[in-house]
Amino acid sequence: MVLLFVLLGIVVLLIAVGIHDVIQKKHSILRNYPVIGHLRFLLEKIRPELQQYFIERNYDGRPYDRDTRSTIYSRAKGTNEEQPFGTERDVNEVGYEYLVHSTAPKPVAEQVPRVRIGGPDCTAPYEMALLNVSAMSFGAISANAIEALNRGAARGGFAHDTGEGGISEYHRNGGDLVWEIGSGYFGTRDADGGFDPDQFRDKAADDQVKLVSLKLSQGAKPGLGGVLPGAKVTPEIAAVRGVPVGKKVVSPPYHQVFSTPRELVLFIARMRELAGGKPAGFKLCVGSRTDVLAICKAMVAEGITPDFIVVDGAEGGTGAAPQEYEDHIGTPLTEGLLTVHNALTGVGLRDRVKIGASGKVATGVDVVKRILQGADYTNAARAMMMATGCIQAQTCHTNTCPVGVATQDPRRMRALDVADKTHRVANYQRETVESAMQVIASMGLEGPEQLEPRMLLRRVDHARTESYADLFEHLAPGQLLGGIHDVSKAWARDWVQADPDVFRP
Ligand SMILES: Cc1cc2nc3c(=O)[nH]c(=O)nc-3n(C[C@H](O)[C@H](O)[C@H](O)COP(=O)(O)O)c2cc1C
Repeated sequence: MVLLFVLLGIVVLLIAVGIHDVIQKKHSILRNYPVIGHLRFLLEKIRPELQQYFIERNYDGRPYDRDTRSTIYSRAKGTNEEQPFGTERDVNEVGYEYLVHSTAPKPVAEQVPRVRIGGPDCTAPYEMALLNVSAMSFGAISANAIEALNRGAARGGFAHDTGEGGISEYHRNGGDLVWEIGSGYFGTRDADGGFDPDQFRDKAADDQVKLVSLKLSQGAKPGLGGVLPGAKVTPEIAAVRGVPVGKKVVSPPYHQVFSTPRELVLFIARMRELAGGKPAGFKLCVGSRTDVLAICKAMVAEGITPDFIVVDGAEGGTGAAPQEYEDHIGTPLTEGLLTVHNALTGVGLRDRVKIGASGKVATGVDVVKRILQGADYTNAARAMMMATGCIQAQTCHTNTCPVGVATQDPRRMRALDVADKTHRVANYQRETVESAMQVIASMGLEGPEQLEPRMLLRRVDHARTESYADLFEHLAPGQLLGGIHDVSKAWARDWVQADPDVFRP
């Protein structure tokens, strides 16, 4: 009899916990997995040993390590992020990098700086934040995730890139938009899948759209298009993308709007004109340096510059891509950034074109490092997903995301509470930028514009470290135009080969 009462008591308790879990809004995992989801928190509590054994082991090789994840989560939640005891990094490991602090740090600048995007042909420049939401399309991530990101961007005053899936109603929550189009031209596509300038003009006129962007390639799958299976093409997604319901949608690896560097540059000018003078640019994962230089030659020849270029690193994320592409193709962000920054500098156009950087930017130090390597501002995709509750389950491609971030399943998506995650997205961005400003002050600088390559060092072997100033070749403004006698053989060769009318294989 007693046993029966005990069992009944346990059942009632579990039902009560289950009801509480489904109703509460802080933890998406509990909303989707009531009761059993507590195991995750239990294991986290008894860290580090058990957590490392049961959880971290499963995270082996996953994009973000434990420290980075805990920094993102604590910033998003606004909880204490301080750690006891000291570094857990091996500072003697080859490849270890560190920033040079000053003996006389400066006070942290009161005003967080912004980056003005808009070259000479732009009539509506935009003041970009140092960290923004990188492109993730509606389709790859859920309606609730898009809404939380856009509301977070509105609250924190930063930009939200739509990704190539078009502008949905969930993007329309007041956050500044970078409207991206890819080779599928979703949202501005004609019946044959080509670019429709009239639709583009109408949609780009929207006040919320502040910049327009052409995606050439993405670090996780450069040289590859995308496929959205018919089952995922719901009426809502079909309407946003301008495609038929239930039919497989293919975005090809190549563009129809250009096939040469010159045509690319001319198309960017056309986008800017159609967008009423709003900043226009492109996003790419760098392939060959010759291609980058060919685009720069086309800019010089036509007297046309994009207002911005976003460089995505090979270490970047995706909703779905073949493993081989994720692991073996594309230039890492460091080299890609240095290439684009130096190519633009070498042709004397660096002051007209702003550079954004994406590829595992997650912390203030990441923001500082990328600026020092040549970026003006940064974007984050997966760290922003984590601010909306992503736990790196890595099931984005299966529609079964356990926390409702990367799924189109309405039942799973409901786990993501928009109000709570809006708050976290805004918190995460603000605290990360504040951390970047704090680091800059510790380096004895007043602002990001004073960052230089000599301020970042990398261990190259057991006895030596070298700064980025010495490790890489840095071109002087206009150096390539003045002749190639004082650049390295490699830069000279690529410059000679670069042709504004051909992308070389
Ligand atoms: C789920 C997901 C969807 C993405 N969709 C797009 C997209 O539509 N267009 C695009 O240019 N990049 C897309 N990306 C790439 C990101 O914008 C970003 O360039 C890349 O993930 C690097 O940033 P991260 O390391 O902060 O994630 C996507 C990334 C993820 C994780």
